[in-house]
Amino acid sequence: MTESTHQPRVFSGVQPTGGLTLGNYLGAVKRFVEMQDNAWQTIYCMVDQHSITNAWAGREGTARATREVAAAFIACGLDPARSILFNQSQVPAHSQLAWVFSCVARMGWMNRMTQFKDKAGKNAEKASLGLYAYPALMAADILVYHATHVPVGEDQKQHLELARDIATKFNLDFEAPDFFPLPEPMIEGVATRVMSLRDGTKKMSKSDPSDMSRINLTDDADTISKKIRKAKTDPEPLPETLDGLDDRPEARNLVNIYAALAETTPEAVIAEYAGSQFGTFKPALADLAVEKMSHISTRMAELMSDPGEIDRILGNGADRAAEIAEPILDRTYDIIGFVRSR
Ligand code: AMP
Ligand code: TRP
Repeated sequence: MTESTHQPRVFSGVQPTGGLTLGNYLGAVKRFVEMQDNAWQTIYCMVDQHSITNAWAGREGTARATREVAAAFIACGLDPARSILFNQSQVPAHSQLAWVFSCVARMGWMNRMTQFKDKAGKNAEKASLGLYAYPALMAADILVYHATHVPVGEDQKQHLELARDIATKFNLDFEAPDFFPLPEPMIEGVATRVMSLRDGTKKMSKSDPSDMSRINLTDDADTISKKIRKAKTDPEPLPETLDGLDDRPEARNLVNIYAALAETTPEAVIAEYAGSQFGTFKPALADLAVEKMSHISTRMAELMSDPGEIDRILGNGADRAAEIAEPILDRTYDIIGFVRSR
């Protein structure tokens, strides 16, 4: 194998289905912002075509969700001048490459995807073909930019492995060594899996029926504070060492959230709060969360009051994205032997 010659380039996507949570923030968006500050090119996409694989939120709901994710990205610190921000459906090259990839990926690979099994539930026969093909479109999202690094939460690891398998098989089958890079998942930090505030064994999710289970990026200071103070815990004080949290998922989750927000380690949090009751720890965490998060909802509301401006930002991002994607799609078609006469 020759050393890869691909320039480092970051790509990630978030589905516009309902508002974002603290889990999305710590597991994804906060890290998108950190990556924007290094020298690499950063491309972040609202994957609206993925958002209809499961259910449709209606015309207004779909458009609003896309604008809301864009507003959340900007409110969290993504700068449209430094990062490319756009929605997937405005750059047709994604779905064009997805077709090619659905001819590369094998049924056996797709059958192993746990997210499909979770989302399709018991009645897989009734799931859409799009839900099944979802990871092929996701691989195309990344590889149509020759992206090399993909910051995501833990739950996307399997999809990233599939994207690498697709890239490898394309390069081999179409005799184009090293044409597509093998994208690296970047699953780092203490908050790659933020858990529900009501059940420390379940992921914090925008689709959980209980609003008390999550902190939404649109929650104001009082709501954030209330949700943390009411979070489920056990009656024990915080332990002396991290091992003492092994069988205490709710306590472990709150310590991890604290560490991620304070940009420190869970060990340091335990060292500071060893022996403290939740009556002390929760108000400290609530204050920290309000300090770090409450400006996000204020800024989002300002941005959402001018949807035309958000659309302008997305349109500009889509133009810049297409400038990178189209030549790569052209080269892909040429490698395959699709005749290009215009
Ligand atoms: P989704 O909302 O499922 O489209 O996820 C968008 C991004 O947020 C992905 O990178 C996920 O891995 C990440 N993410 C979603 N929920 C969580 C969570 N509870 N903890 C950490 N990361 C998460
Ligand atoms: N599947 C991802 C999720 O649910 C969203 C996504 C779509 C994505 N395309 C992507 C993430 C490309 C990273 C790169 O979170």
